Amino acid sequence: MAERPIVIYGDPVLRKISEEITEIDQEVKDLVSDLVDTLKNAQGLGLSAVQIGVLKRLFILDLSAVDLTASLKVFVNPEIVAVEGEEEREEGCLSFPGLYQNIVRPNKVKVRATDLDGKKFEMEVEGLKARAILHEYDHLEGKLFIDHLSPMTRTLIRGRLKKLTQAS
Ligand code: NI
Repeated sequence: MAERPIVIYGDPVLRKISEEITEIDQEVKDLVSDLVDTLKNAQGLGLSAVQIGVLKRLFILDLSAVDLTASLKVFVNPEIVAVEGEEEREEGCLSFPGLYQNIVRPNKVKVRATDLDGKKFEMEVEGLKARAILHEYDHLEGKLFIDHLSPMTRTLIRGRLKKLTQAS
């Protein structure tokens, strides 16, 4: 499969809600393969299908760069079952090249999803992993990390956001 261009902020597709995957067929497997190649090349931690322009409820996480015990994980039709706590941490997004902001999010999450073999799984994670899952899940709902910023911060970065829009 192949690396695909990452959709940049300003493209209206990032605001759309992704659709449930009804069957894990070859098309879905090819999509995952493209996501893996694209994420590796971009050196990111996570990537959702919508970020390569496909409105399907699917994202991948690869935290191996920050956690040696981590391996690539595929989340099909994920559901956030519960969240807990709160933590502020710097966050970025491959659809916002060069933009990093402190974002408050829950620091624990319980997520349910299906893997590429069609097997359902549930995991409870915290810290960076929880943050990454919540960030990617937001993408499936058409939500972006800047939506978590205060109105004042958004005003402050308005110029930089506008620049991203023009570059896309
Ligand atoms: Ni993102």
